[in-house]
Formats: sequence, structure tokens, C-alpha cells
Amino acid sequence: MEAELIGVSDNIQRIRDIIERVADHNLNVVVCGETGVGKELVVQHLYRRSNRYGKPFVKVNCAALPDTLLESEMFGYEPGAFTGADKRRRGKFEQANGGVLFLDEIGDMSLPLQSKLLHVLQGGDFTPLGSEKAVKTDAWVIAATNHDLERDLIQGKFREDLYFRLSAIRIMIEPLRRRPEDIPHLIHYYISKYAEEFQGKSFTAPRKKTIERLRAYSWPGNVRELQNIIKRLMILGDDDETLDSLLKTPESRAAETQEGRAGAATPLFDPRELANLASLSLKEMRKKAADRVEREVISYVLNKTAWNRSKATRILKISYKTLLYKIKELGIEPPPDDFD
Ligand SMILES: Nc1ncnc2c1ncn2[C@@H]1O[C@H](COP(=O)(O)OP(=O)(O)OP(=O)(O)O)[C@@H](O)[C@H]1O
Ligand SMILES: [Mg+2]
Repeated sequence: MEAELIGVSDNIQRIRDIIERVADHNLNVVVCGETGVGKELVVQHLYRRSNRYGKPFVKVNCAALPDTLLESEMFGYEPGAFTGADKRRRGKFEQANGGVLFLDEIGDMSLPLQSKLLHVLQGGDFTPLGSEKAVKTDAWVIAATNHDLERDLIQGKFREDLYFRLSAIRIMIEPLRRRPEDIPHLIHYYISKYAEEFQGKSFTAPRKKTIERLRAYSWPGNVRELQNIIKRLMILGDDDETLDSLLKTPESRAAETQEGRAGAATPLFDPRELANLASLSLKEMRKKAADRVEREVISYVLNKTAWNRSKATRILKISYKTLLYKIKELGIEPPPDDFD
């Protein structure tokens, strides 16, 4: 069964649209995005929608092999090309002829190999190691990376000419925290998918609160992390304690230990919350931060003065009217025995 590309965000809808438009034209595509956002899934969709579906789909992971091995893997070799090369081996470029060559983790390819790749893309042919004869190839090259390739260009880590060759079409998949509206859809999709896998077991539907917490979480591992967490919640149940333990990011753990240290500053925003707020403008964030500080300071002073508002205004150096306004605006609750 085809793995679906779930999502209602503008980003995912646009990607679906690009896939439909691009697939039959075989333009080179680069798919970018953080780890686990669905780059390979998008590449598979491109292939399935294309006129090359059914032809070979060959994947090369450019980060998995050292340079020389990657070169022989991509271009193949003749017997005797190097020690141990006892028979001819077809490279991935040749295997992908007429189909798709998926260059995964292209951002990790060395500069010398990038030059060779560029040469193939320009000429449509390459020479296997130890051979004299060039081999023609007609592979549709689709690449993916979690690098910021444009930054790599500036830093000289990625060849500009190769970048332009490869990226006739660029698809950028946003991290999940920037498209929280997709999260509930992904949750429901994976719950029903896993319910089928875990046949015979019954699961209670997640609480509304659970969905809200998952929506607000920062998902550093993106959809892959979401799959893992859903699976575990289905087995362990979605009570608060389980959620707390599953939704801890390295940052929130670090923040916790910092808070535990005497005198250490408490961060104004929890890192998970921060990731969720990151879509706000700096101005909106500043307002949120200011509200939070004001609420804390005013509450502190009011409690210290036993809610004597006149005293509080003198300490805070604000007018009585402003204080009343702030109490209301910031939702500061008087203690239950304050009947004033
Ligand atoms: N929009 C989506 N809808 C449904 N499933 C998704 C979606 N995006 C990703 N997935 C699933 O999440 C998992 C991770 O996706 P994928 O392997 O494509 O990510 P990736 O970006 O290639 O990750 P990496 O950088 O780690 O290689 C896969 O099982 C994939 O099917
Ligand atoms: Mg991948």
C-alpha cells in the first residue's frame, strides 16, 4: 500500500501540487528539510506519479560510504580497476537508466565527487573506474538533504554549478513545529495504521488534552519521532505521566537541570513552548515575554503587601488605575480570602 503524504498545511498542499506538476517532466529535484520530515516519502511520491514508475528506482546514500567507495558505487568499475575488483560491476547510474536515481544526503558528498557528478549531469555520460569507454545514462536524478544547501554554497562546501544543475525544482519540507495544523491529522493517520498492525488489541482514543500537548510539542525528530511516540502511547496509554516522560526533549531536560541549580536563571519560555511560539514575530514574542514578567512581578508585590493595592502602586511606581488595569488584563488572581 502506498504510504500517504498526510497534511493540510499550506506547505504540504503546495508540495502535493508540485509533485503532480513536476512528476512527468523529469526535471531534477532537490528535496530539503530537517531529519524525519518526509523527504524520502516525497521522493517516492514523485516517482510513483511519474512516467518512470515501474522503471528502476535506485537509491544511493551519499553519507554512508567513504569517498572512493561511493564513487565506485555510483559509476561502477571494470575488473582490475583496483585491488579486489575481480569482475565488472554496474554502477547505480547505470542501474537507474530509464528510471530514477535518488541521491540521498547529497549535502554530505565531497567536493571532488561533486565535480564528477556535475560532469555526468552535464554530459549525460560517465566512465566507470578502470574503463576507457563512456557509458550513456538517462537517469532522472532526485536529491535530498537535511543540509541548508544555500549556506553550504556560501561556505564553499557545495558547488554552486552543481546546485543549480540539480535543483531545477526545489522542495522545502517545513519542520512539524512550523505546521502544527498537520499534527492532529498525522496522529489519527498513524493511530489507525498501527491499530491495524497491533491486531486484536483495543485502544482507547487519545484525550483531547493529549492531542493539544502533541500539537504544542517541538518535534525535533519530526514525523519519525511522532510515529514512535504514537506507537508508545498506544501501548502505554496517554496519562499525563506517560506524556511527560515521552515528550521530553534534550533542551527541556537541560532547562530542567538548570532550573534545579541554585541561582540559575529560569528561562522565560520552556523550549517546547518556545518552538511553538517561534512562528510569532519578535514584537509579539516581546509582548508575551513582557506580560509574563509583569504578571510575575505584580503578583509577587501584591502577595508581599497582602494585596494592599496602594502600597503595591508605590513599590511598582505605577498609578492605581494602571495597577487595576494590569490585574484584570494579566488575569492576576487574588488569594481566596481577599473579599475586598
Ligand atoms: N506528511 C507525511 N504523512 C505521512 N507520513 C509521513 C509524512 N512525512 C513523513 N512521514 C513518515 O515519516 C517517516 C520519516 O519520513 P522520511 O524517511 O521520508 O523522512 P526523511 O526526511 O527522509 O528523514 P531523514 O532526514 O532522517 O532521512 C516515514 O515513515 C514517512 O513515511
Ligand atoms: Mg531520508
